Amino acid sequence: MRNTYLFVSPLRDADMRMAAQLLREGKLVVFPTETVYGLGTNAFSEEGVRSIFEAKKRPQDNPLIVHIADVSFLPLVTKNLSEEEKRLFACFSPGPLTVLCERSDTIPSVVSAGLPTIGVRIPAHPVAHALLALAGVPVAAPSANLSGRPSPTTFAMARQDMEGRVDAILDGGDCEHGLESTVVMVREGKVSILRPGAITEEMFREKGFEVGGGGEKRGDRPISPGMKYTHYKPHAEVYLTRKWDEKKLWSRFQGTRLALVGLVPPSGPWERVVFSDVTSYARGLFATFARLEQMGIEVIVLEAVEEKGIGKALMNRMRKASGNQWVEEAHDTFSE
Ligand code: TXA
Ligand code: MG
Repeated sequence: MRNTYLFVSPLRDADMRMAAQLLREGKLVVFPTETVYGLGTNAFSEEGVRSIFEAKKRPQDNPLIVHIADVSFLPLVTKNLSEEEKRLFACFSPGPLTVLCERSDTIPSVVSAGLPTIGVRIPAHPVAHALLALAGVPVAAPSANLSGRPSPTTFAMARQDMEGRVDAILDGGDCEHGLESTVVMVREGKVSILRPGAITEEMFREKGFEVGGGGEKRGDRPISPGMKYTHYKPHAEVYLTRKWDEKKLWSRFQGTRLALVGLVPPSGPWERVVFSDVTSYARGLFATFARLEQMGIEVIVLEAVEEKGIGKALMNRMRKASGNQWVEEAHDTFSE
């Protein structure tokens, strides 16, 4: 049990200096980014890094990414950067992108779970940026959830998972994107997308990158160790649907505490969460899961979106949360 300082918005200079000092000392600080909240410590502190795995109950073989204030820190955390890797940072940083690079020898191998690579991200969120600049060290930080829970996208969610387990939590309001960063790796000159996010395939192509060789696996081994773990599955049973069919929902799910989530969920005797567009759907998905869980909802039906732009990342997280179960394809066991 740790005594957790809560630095509530609006953050003062003194709060930021203290949080930066804690980070430098290898203590644990939860901070907002434009994607999700991160749980950080000084990447040079082996003990600090080990305590991140403990606080999150994260499997030891799942590597962390390092966060840096700007490109001047790149030589400290990476080596042999290729021209394509440099160009990725030039085009998309600061922003919601993580690039897997060759790890510098000065970064303890425990950060990347013994892998020769290291994920590097330069966040754009003003609080994250100021904190990293003040700390003056690279900060190893996974998402600030307990392993197997949704990434926190609000201060309240971060607090719920991490209060008592970390030394400080900074309030930065709600995260802009709401889904974790795009994780990429350059292979044979092509950008290979290991985790879709707010920097989309279309955006890489627009800047003249070749995209390809993606996918989560090489042979039967996941390239990214995190991909093999089950991702957040709410306590509720989760289904995807392409098209709302009120009669079907009613016959299948009557008698359960049901929630319909999406762009145009029909009204009826169920909870309804409506988003005005795909961007706000992505931003609000994890917080919606948290809220519906608190309400004791038993079944959640998520409206599928077109897999383009941010819709690709949203569908990736929704497929994981639902175990890719579709209302359309499931057998009608309830009505037998
Ligand atoms: O938006 C984000 O990326 C957030 C914020 C806090 O920056 N961070 C985040 O970290 O989502 P995390 O640890 O929850 O997810 C990072 C993913 C994991 O699936 C991990 O396995 C993978 O990236 N990863 C990290 N380093 C890797 C490496 N060297 N090789 C392969 N995969 C790596
Ligand atoms: Mg995570």
